[in-house]
Amino acid sequence: MKKRYLLGVFLLSCFIAKGQDSTIKSSVKNVEAKVDSVLALMTLEEKVGQLVQYNGSWDLTGPASEMNNKQKEENLKAGKVGAMLNVLSVEATKEAQKLVMENSRLKIPLMFGYDVIHGYTTIFPVPLAETASWDLEAMEKTAEIAALESAANGVNWTFSPMIDVSRDARWGRIMEGSGEDPYLTSKVAVAKVKGYQSNDLANPRSIAATAKHFAGYGFGEAGRDYNTVHIGENELHNTILPPFKEAAKAGVATFMNAFNDIDGTPATAHKTLQREILKKEWDWDGFVVSDWGSIPEMIAHGLARDKKHAAQIALNAGSDMDMEGGAYESSLVNLVEKGKVSQEYIDDAVKRVLRVKFKLGLFDDPYLYANLELLENISFEEHKNVARDVAKKSIVLLKNENDLLPIQDSIKKIAVIGPLADDKDTPIGNWRAQGEANSAVSLLEGLKNNMNEEVEISYAKGADLGLGERSFLMPLKINETDTSGFQEAINKASEADLVIMALGEDAFQTGEGRSQVDVGLAGVQQELLKEIRKVNKNIVLVLINGRPLEITYASENIPAIVEAWQLGSESGNAIADVLLGDYNPSGKLPVSFPRAIGQEPLYYNQKSTGRPSNPTHVTYSGYTDEKKDALYPFGFGLSYTSFEYGDLTISEEELTPGSPIEVSFSLSNTGEKEGKEIVQLYIKDIVASTTRPIKELKGFEAVSLAPGETKTVTFEINEEMLQFYTANEKWESEAGEFEVMVGGNSRDLQKVKFSLKK
Ligand code: NOJ
Repeated sequence: MKKRYLLGVFLLSCFIAKGQDSTIKSSVKNVEAKVDSVLALMTLEEKVGQLVQYNGSWDLTGPASEMNNKQKEENLKAGKVGAMLNVLSVEATKEAQKLVMENSRLKIPLMFGYDVIHGYTTIFPVPLAETASWDLEAMEKTAEIAALESAANGVNWTFSPMIDVSRDARWGRIMEGSGEDPYLTSKVAVAKVKGYQSNDLANPRSIAATAKHFAGYGFGEAGRDYNTVHIGENELHNTILPPFKEAAKAGVATFMNAFNDIDGTPATAHKTLQREILKKEWDWDGFVVSDWGSIPEMIAHGLARDKKHAAQIALNAGSDMDMEGGAYESSLVNLVEKGKVSQEYIDDAVKRVLRVKFKLGLFDDPYLYANLELLENISFEEHKNVARDVAKKSIVLLKNENDLLPIQDSIKKIAVIGPLADDKDTPIGNWRAQGEANSAVSLLEGLKNNMNEEVEISYAKGADLGLGERSFLMPLKINETDTSGFQEAINKASEADLVIMALGEDAFQTGEGRSQVDVGLAGVQQELLKEIRKVNKNIVLVLINGRPLEITYASENIPAIVEAWQLGSESGNAIADVLLGDYNPSGKLPVSFPRAIGQEPLYYNQKSTGRPSNPTHVTYSGYTDEKKDALYPFGFGLSYTSFEYGDLTISEEELTPGSPIEVSFSLSNTGEKEGKEIVQLYIKDIVASTTRPIKELKGFEAVSLAPGETKTVTFEINEEMLQFYTANEKWESEAGEFEVMVGGNSRDLQKVKFSLKK
């Protein structure tokens, strides 16, 4: 029989009085009635308590608060806290939950949040990498596993997915999102929400997800973290909001707001975003948690005079829960008493929090997520297999001159070189949750595990990359000078048939607060690459990194380049799968790679200027010292086989609402290996009431083909796909002409026209 912990007889009698079955799971039925009946019992102090979130200091992911643990404990007992973050393990969460359940008057269970960004114990590719797989099923699966591992450790709420569209390689958090495209990010958002939450939040194997950061955080000026964002209505609605809208539609339990100011209003103070758009227009019923301290940070923004003022602004703007900011707990009661914040707003915020707790099943069993048996039954081996599978699918082949890859049987001696070649830590990436330090399979290990034993593998690091302490909060020191390991690497390279070089970024070069003005190969890496090239030109460059890199030198001088990102626990095995040809690479870039850092922000779905090109004069929108397009564009990725696209045919040249048309083409595998191509569909609205991007992704499909095989691929185009935020300030389509484009990346496309008639 289910124990009902909350409120004992009183609440039970409320349900019975309403003729409800008190044994019905809270997650399934009558959540609203239950929320109301709890709310009716609460004092103002208890209501405010539900809007307070404390850090548990197991893992510090923001500036430490002034409150000591003893005080936190007292407040938990007094029912003054609604949720915690960074409390990890069954024992720890149970202990904290007990403080509430055994001491507070109303015994409203806590939620436990954590940044489970790309896995909990089993670490999957960083989100930008995983998006390169374009495999939504795989991405849902990894979220499902991350949820299971979290839930089994007491965590019932992840601050993920981060669905900030970002177009700036300088921004360290670009690794945490799905890149530059709102459509692709929306698809990933839905997959992740489904994976984390399943179709029943009260399933003890699933957890609540968070759509973050609402909104605009990926557009910080100059790529600087936390920086001011300058976006107009058009960009906000067409580029930034769509993934959030999709996450809301998919039933994401919570939203997190953002640190940034948007055109004069910090996101935390943004009433239009939080109250008008999210809660009213989108009719979303979850709660908004602030980002860590983003409420009191409005003092530094110059919007709030003090904490109390910040609390007033934030709550009135629709920020429901204060994450480790100390503003709500110190001021909200008084603000309500003084009439500065309405009781109605408080009630709405509390109801939102209670609703999620009911749906999570916490009122039925506050210890639902503290289940050691679940943990004991997890098959980490199985999770590793999934990690390897998604990791190999996330790898993008950028260059492969003379079919250097996959490694041929004639290669008998390989030199594996570079600071990241035997690094077991960097592939775990930043935001690694409980992924153990140094627990990834390194590239060197992966090769040794999977390579034919007759091949001789030598290794030399060549140089260090990150030096000294490497941790979430501390700056990373880069080796800029020490080249003492070069000679050994040069010697080994000169004796080898093939050199595999692993260069890129340390795990702690990307992530929160890790903005950079340079996105080239940091430290002495490029120098090492040049030195090795002097003695052996047969180089496969394996990039291990979290952000798009500027690799112009390598792309001009190195015959094969593999973008292997930070791929998580199974990194080295997955890279070996690709290098050895056990898996034919199929990943495509979710973000443009620049020719030079000065091009950033760089993205394929730009608007045209009035002067898009001029072959002779300088008076057009470009650069005088560099091309303006990407070195490797969005959607780009090669295969060990080749694909040929047949001519595009369109079922009708005119489309009307309710009667979609189809665009078809044949896709042939013209090479000698089986392969998978991610075909992409883009659309351009030629003339509209506001200017429109030169192309926008509107569909994609993974097509697997045997050598010599041809398939016909068909995409439907319907009126909904043509909608955007128009000059009428509405999401709608406009009659007129469009171009539909199809191809294997955002640059090399064939196109045909059609029109929409309304
Ligand atoms: C700040 C980050 O911006 C946010 O994404 C994260 O969830 C919180 N800290 C909690 O660690």
